[in-house]
Amino acid sequence: MTNIVVTGRIPHPGIERLGTVGSVWAWDDDEPIPTDVRNAHLAHADVAVTLLTDRVDDAFLDAAPQLRMVANVAVGYNNIDVAACQRRNVIVTNTPGVLTDATADLAMALVLMSTRRLGEGERLIRSGAAWQWGMFMMLGRGLQGRQLGIVGMGGIGVALARRARSFGMTIAYHNRSAVNADVANELGATRHELRQLLATSDVVSLNCPYSPETHHLIDADALQSMRSDAFLINTARGPIVDEAALVAALRNGAIAGAGLDVFEHEPTVHPDLLQLDNVVLVPHLGSATVETRTAMAMLAADNVVAVVNGGAPLTPVG
Ligand code: DGY
Repeated sequence: MTNIVVTGRIPHPGIERLGTVGSVWAWDDDEPIPTDVRNAHLAHADVAVTLLTDRVDDAFLDAAPQLRMVANVAVGYNNIDVAACQRRNVIVTNTPGVLTDATADLAMALVLMSTRRLGEGERLIRSGAAWQWGMFMMLGRGLQGRQLGIVGMGGIGVALARRARSFGMTIAYHNRSAVNADVANELGATRHELRQLLATSDVVSLNCPYSPETHHLIDADALQSMRSDAFLINTARGPIVDEAALVAALRNGAIAGAGLDVFEHEPTVHPDLLQLDNVVLVPHLGSATVETRTAMAMLAADNVVAVVNGGAPLTPVG
């Protein structure tokens, strides 16, 4: 019998699917699993189904001597030491594709919230302060004819570009390789060096994976090279941005505003960001729809089913 340990709550259909190929033990609480509880179950686990809040490193793997597979219920896998898994012949999978639309929707929502000052407006109403319609009240920026610069033109970047086009934006991007010609033509998308993209875009959206190469990709210099009327959106991973430098840039007017779904030291948010009106803050909600989270759990489970049945993983990493 294959022992499957699920380290956090996932939608039930995923658990049911896992149950078709093994005996499942799942942590069923919104609080993180205590390490001693996790390790006690990992001791007999053949498969671990993990969340992005799990650190799958040597300590995790040491606790799981018979582990064959880690199925991460996330597209990002920076929480997993893939090299350490490979050294121990542990297969790693993630959940690409199924959260593309939800994450692109949220990125577009942050573009709109930031440029139209919706967080600020909501706070004003909730504060109970007196207000009245005014010709110059809380003016934002329109998107028509503005350039969206996308850093990381994978599936989510492309899906965001499609949404932004319908708001009249033009698309520029920075990516290691060019997107295929059909997609580039459809979007009218042009490829740029990072600094050129930052210097020319009205809105910059981060949609690249987090890795040592992208750590603090957006640092003080990068922020300084952006336009003072530009906005930064991050739905990728927090540490891509130097949060202290972002606070300074938002404060001194180096950029106009930001919309953040992810944070450098998540779940801690830089305390100064909380004081600033020109930043919209949401708690890592990119894939947070019922449909998407269910699809993520199912894809993770399908990967497990494939491997336990002797097949190849559907969406392997590394
Ligand atoms: C992911 O999957 O990497 C998102 O950040 C959360 O769903």
